[in-house]
Amino acid sequence: MFKISTIIIISILFLAGVSFGSDEDEILLKQANKIFGPLPQAMVSEKNPISRQKVKLGKMFFYETRISVDGTVSCSRCHPIGLYAADGLRKSIGNNCKVNPRNAPTIFNAAGQISEHWIGNRVDVEDQAKQAVIGPPSFGMPSYEAVEKRLKEIKGYGPLFKEAFPQDKDPVTVDNFAKAVGAFERTLVTPSRFDAFVKGELTALSDNQKRGLKTFVETDCMTCHSSAYVGGQMYQKFGVFEPYWQYTRSKEIDEGRYVVTKNESDKYVFKVPILRNVEMTSPYFHDGSVDHLYDAVRIMGKIQLGKDLDKSRVEEIVTFLKSLTGEIPEDALKIPLLPSTN
Ligand code: HEC
Ligand code: HEC
Repeated sequence: MFKISTIIIISILFLAGVSFGSDEDEILLKQANKIFGPLPQAMVSEKNPISRQKVKLGKMFFYETRISVDGTVSCSRCHPIGLYAADGLRKSIGNNCKVNPRNAPTIFNAAGQISEHWIGNRVDVEDQAKQAVIGPPSFGMPSYEAVEKRLKEIKGYGPLFKEAFPQDKDPVTVDNFAKAVGAFERTLVTPSRFDAFVKGELTALSDNQKRGLKTFVETDCMTCHSSAYVGGQMYQKFGVFEPYWQYTRSKEIDEGRYVVTKNESDKYVFKVPILRNVEMTSPYFHDGSVDHLYDAVRIMGKIQLGKDLDKSRVEEIVTFLKSLTGEIPEDALKIPLLPSTN
């Protein structure tokens, strides 16, 4: 008798526990849908519709070093696809070993942001690709004409440009180069377990990841890091409560968007970065000044929210952030064969 009642009580408690758990999960799912939502299949643009031909050509350009001033620089140097499209350096190294002013963010999911670059001085991925080829610290080419000349010299590209831009009379242009690269980047989405959860699969995240998601939301990280990209949708001051360099120990002080707008209110303002794949893209912040995700999260709590997060909270958040590590698109991992220099 005693045994049976014990079993009944235990089962009631167990069932109550389970149903309470899943109720909580449902609430969390609703919240996650409101704040984030799943990644799209591709990051489309009316100005630059994606086509198979453009993506194919754009992917080739991604590995093309012959359009750089010293013949060694391609996009893949600073955004290696197999390493989650970030180079792991504090600051990237461009042509003739020039050091870039900021850290290279991943290009995965990057086309979904309001703008490109840490200070938003590139309109979209097409604008970014176009300006990169004449960027003094990256490709360093002297002019767009010089880039077009190089592209035309590699005869194998002519027919591929024609296929990708059939309407154009003279398709071998830097603008079309940029559109092709942009189309390729627009396909680089990396869905993860988190997307499965947001789509309703309650068991896609572990209990620890769910706890971390809850902590991320309750701590108010999502006031800045929101949308399917978990960031990339607004500009904010880095160091709302205290100057960032006191925590990051940055050697140089970057004035952020002030450099672009010259508005006093834009001092130390940066684009809120996307947190997709953040586990894989150390070092952190615009100058790569912080090596560990744990420290980046602790610093965020302190200087963006004025909160001293204890060790367990920080660890919970890091556990959640790891659930944002997605699959690298299989096709993007295949390195294309480039046309020869005749
Ligand atoms: C020499 C290294 C280097 C090369 C080469 C390079 N990048 Fe970058 N990339 C960077 C750095 C550094 C940044 C950040 C610049 C900034 O914010 O001031 C960046 C930023 C970006 C961003 C913006 C990401 C975001 O979240 O804002 C995109 C997109 C991008 N690069 C794509 C490309 C493409 C496409 C190419 C080739 C055409 C390329 N990059 C070549 C280093 C490089
Ligand atoms: C007030 C807006 C705001 C809030 C709130 C906020 N962040 Fe940030 N976050 C930013 C900005 C802006 C940056 C870019 C800083 C820079 O210039 O390097 C950033 C950068 C980061 C980075 C570094 C990403 C990278 O690729 O280098 C991480 C990680 C991060 N935030 C996590 C969090 C977490 C976790 C919380 C909550 C504890 C949080 N953030 C709260 C605005 C915010």
